[in-house]
Amino acid sequence: VNEITMSTGILAGKVALVTGAGSGIGRATCRLLARDGAKVIAADRNLQAAQETAKELGAENSASLEVDVSSSKSVESAVAEALKKFQQAPSIVVNSAGITRDGYLLKMPEKDYDDVYSVNLKGTFLITQYFAKAMIEQNVKNGSIVNLSSIVAKMNNIGQANYAATKAGVISFTEVASKEFGKFGIRVNCILPGYIDTPMVAVVPTAIKEQVMQKCPLGRLGQPEEIAEVIAFLASSKSSYINGAAIDVTGGLT
Ligand code: NAI
Repeated sequence: VNEITMSTGILAGKVALVTGAGSGIGRATCRLLARDGAKVIAADRNLQAAQETAKELGAENSASLEVDVSSSKSVESAVAEALKKFQQAPSIVVNSAGITRDGYLLKMPEKDYDDVYSVNLKGTFLITQYFAKAMIEQNVKNGSIVNLSSIVAKMNNIGQANYAATKAGVISFTEVASKEFGKFGIRVNCILPGYIDTPMVAVVPTAIKEQVMQKCPLGRLGQPEEIAEVIAFLASSKSSYINGAAIDVTGGLT
């Protein structure tokens, strides 16, 4: 924990909504946004996991809610619920919900393509659209939306046609949103993490993880907090002129 940031509480008075908050990067993001003074709404399809994240942050400064980001109906009720939690629209939104369904293209079931698309790209669209509307309606100042792309959008690994395409889509989506929302004072950026030690990467075969660590100049996987630090920075006024950016956080892996 960076004590300087903690003492300044740069996010004090702000409400943040984080999807995928029940695990990995989303959970680490909730911790660091709370550390920096924000009130945090942990949102996940897995409500119990979101509740565990919120519990750690304390009842006064956090809340949890269930949302399936791939469903407009679910996202619509999540917005209504989120607005009630702290009587204000979140000014920070982090799209961390994401899934993989890896497999060779020639054998990829249509469902595995659709599921990855629905969560990673459409989910980012729905959450962004609904929460940006709420921010604009409530005249929220200095909004910041942070999307999770992936270095896979550039590496385009074999077996990840569905995932790579959605994460490349997130970069374009982020750029368009940054252009459309700039006039409302809402910045939109995305991060391209390398291989981060979370449950998502736990299912990657050990041999592949070792290859990745060998290729990575820092020689190791990243920790979720190392992504969350960049998200906290993008959420704060410290990054006030960064908009529409796609930032690699990979330990040098390209
Ligand atoms: P994770 O698997 O640890 O956590 C993902 C969370 O998203 C889970 O709690 C899950 O319940 C939730 N989720 C899944 N589908 C959902 C839905 N439809 N609605 C709401 N919540 C849903 O994953 P991790 O590693 O924390 O990844 C977070 C984001 O970062 C993802 O978008 C992922 O693609 C991206 N990313 C992760 C990398 C890594 O190495 N772990 C590398 C690059 C990008």
